[in-house]
Amino acid sequence: MNAVRHLEDFDDAAFDPFVADEAMFGHCPDPYGPLAELRRQGPVHALNYRVFMGEPPDITSSDVEHFTVVGYDEVNQALREVETFSNRAYLRNIGISFGRSVSTMDAPEHPRFRKIFQKAFLPNVVSKWGESVVDPVIDSLMAGFEKRGTADLVQEFTFHYPFQIVYRQLGLPPDEVKTFHKLAMAQILVSVDVAHGTEASRKLGTYFDALIEERRRNPGSDLVSVLAQAEVEGERLPQDVLISFLRQLVNAGGDTTYRGTSVLLTGLLSNPDQLEAVRQNRALVPQAIEEALRWDGPVLIQTRMALRDAELGGVKTPRGAFLDVAAGAANRDPQRFPDPDTFNIFRKPEHRHFAFAFGPHVCIGQHLARVEMTRALNAVLDRLPRVRLDPDRPAPQIRGIMMRVPKHIFVRFG
Ligand code: HEM
Repeated sequence: MNAVRHLEDFDDAAFDPFVADEAMFGHCPDPYGPLAELRRQGPVHALNYRVFMGEPPDITSSDVEHFTVVGYDEVNQALREVETFSNRAYLRNIGISFGRSVSTMDAPEHPRFRKIFQKAFLPNVVSKWGESVVDPVIDSLMAGFEKRGTADLVQEFTFHYPFQIVYRQLGLPPDEVKTFHKLAMAQILVSVDVAHGTEASRKLGTYFDALIEERRRNPGSDLVSVLAQAEVEGERLPQDVLISFLRQLVNAGGDTTYRGTSVLLTGLLSNPDQLEAVRQNRALVPQAIEEALRWDGPVLIQTRMALRDAELGGVKTPRGAFLDVAAGAANRDPQRFPDPDTFNIFRKPEHRHFAFAFGPHVCIGQHLARVEMTRALNAVLDRLPRVRLDPDRPAPQIRGIMMRVPKHIFVRFG
């Protein structure tokens, strides 16, 4: 199946969204120290998280009063009580680039559309993609370095594989992969660079609009064809909602899993005894993944807007205020996770982590992310014998205040 038209690159083809991405999420290696200090003072604080961490504010909401939520129970409450703490906060930033996406909606609109999209990502559906979609992508990337004895597992592997998986699911043309990757990532730059964020959104929108029409005429088994036929209450999904979902998918489906897998590999390679335990006993893979997501989940902050004057953790949050909900702080609350800063795959899973959020907006792609991370980790253990950090290169450094990732993981094997 051929794509209907060419995907246009940025007008300035030299623009590098990956550099801008670093500028947006910051270089901070340890936001958890300052967050722990905040938590000791109280669960909710009248401050803007980005500014507190020494970064410029999100330009789309710098005029709004912000509260930062760091307590486990308060994070739980803010994510659960959607009638009070609304996802409409995202209309200001990712809503500009994704458009009418499920992330920006409240009930009754949200559950109506979400249930359609969710069907395509249920565990029984995505488990089938392991062999058919995930493994071929992993194979082709690993073939590039597995004979060499050294690799940078981020730049040569994790940075690419989940994006390529989403492109395969959507049946996108392989020769456009580089442009998709750039535009997909650039969409979230609206918080610091509205012009490039909206340019990426416009170009993806034009492409998807034509692609949906083409797949309606000539349906295949790809996800665009499936969603293009989907109905909500007897009617087709509105075109703008479907385009927005695809815009979100090419970003959310890749960006988060790339970060999550990189953090998982960092945690294990930095703790060789735990790596060895997983190598010997693959039944430990699921708990290694959950621990990586708890310890340094890729999405540290979620944003909500108070729809009415409310109170959270004893602090008044007026109508219209934005809540910077620090899932990452809750995931390191020592009341729930003893010795929270330590990566420990043998930790007892007594409490839920919030890496995929919680409540009605909990991540649609969580089951797929787990399938991808499982297959990626098993491939690293199976195909790179005795894989270990390269002692002659810098150790991986996870950085960022909003979205976390190491830029490099230099390894040796064989
Ligand atoms: C490790 C990987 C991932 C992490 C940590 C992650 C994290 C999250 C979080 C925290 C949210 C909630 C955002 C909010 O409401 O504030 C979310 C929502 C979402 N995620 Fe993921 N995600 C991951 C992978 C994926 C994948 C692979 C897909 C798609 C294939 C995906 C699609 C979505 C969608 C569509 C939503 C919006 C759900 C809604 O608002 O109802 N995610 N994700």
